[in-house]
Amino acid sequence: MTNPIPKHIAIIMDGNGRWAKRRFLPRIEGHRAGGKSVRRVVEAARELGIRYLTLYAFSTENWTRPEDEISGLMKLFIEYLRGELPNLVKNKVRLRTIGQKNRFSNEIQLMIDEAENQTKEGAELDLILALSYGGRQEIIDAVNLAIKNGKPVTEESFRRYLYAPDVPDPELLIRTSDELRISNFLLWQSAYTEFVYSPVLWPDFDKDEFIRCIDEYRDRERRFGGSEWVSSSHG
Ligand code: IPE
Ligand code: IPE
Ligand code: MG
Repeated sequence: MTNPIPKHIAIIMDGNGRWAKRRFLPRIEGHRAGGKSVRRVVEAARELGIRYLTLYAFSTENWTRPEDEISGLMKLFIEYLRGELPNLVKNKVRLRTIGQKNRFSNEIQLMIDEAENQTKEGAELDLILALSYGGRQEIIDAVNLAIKNGKPVTEESFRRYLYAPDVPDPELLIRTSDELRISNFLLWQSAYTEFVYSPVLWPDFDKDEFIRCIDEYRDRERRFGGSEWVSSSHG
C-alpha cells in the first residue's frame, strides 16, 4: 500500500545562507539562487498534479535579521512578483499569501494585491507564499477573531478563522538543509502532517529531490491515532 500523491505540500525553504557561505558569496546570493528553486519547484508541483503548495518564504522572526539582508530579500520578492506574474497567469497558478501582509512596504503590498487579483482564476495550483508568517501569530489572530464573534469555538469552526480556511491541511511538510524543526510554521495545520527532511540546501533543491521526498511520504504508514494505516488524505 502507498499513500496517494499529496494534495497539499508545505515546504520550509532553508539553507540559502549556508549555500552562499560555502561559495564565499554574500548571503543574498543564496536567496537569489533560492528564488530560482522556487520557480523550479512551482513548475514541478504543477507537473506532478499537486493542488496546493505552501512555501515558507519569510517568518515573523526573520524580521530580526540584519537590515541589509531584509532589504535584499524585499528586492527579491519584488523581482519574483514582477518576473513571474505572466508565467503564473499563463500556467493557471493562483498566487495567495498568508501572514502579516501589512508589515511590508506599500509597494510590496500593492504588488501582492495585484498578483493575487490577476491570478485569481488559476485553478491548476494554489501557490501560497507564507510572508511574515508565524504559526503562533496565526492562532492568536484566529483567537481574537473568535472572541470578536463572541461564540465558543470547536475545532471545525476555529479553522474558519485561520488565514486560508479553505486549504486542506498539508499531508506532507518538507524541510530542506537538514534542520529538524518546525520554526513556527503551520502549527495548527500540521497536527498530523508527515515530515520529510531533505539534506539538500534550498538553492540546490530540484525536481528529482522533490520526487524523492514525495516517494518517502508515500511509503509512510499514516494512522491518525488509530491502529490501521489510513491511506486516503485526511482533513
Ligand atoms: C532560508 O534560508 C530563507 C529565509 C529564511 C528567508 P536561510 O537564510 O535561513 O539560510 P541558512 O539557514 O542561514 O543557511
Ligand atoms: C525558517 O527558516 C523560515 C523560513 C524558511 C522562511 P529559519 O532559517 O528562519 O529558521 P531557524 O532560525 O533555523 O529555526
Ligand atoms: Mg535558515
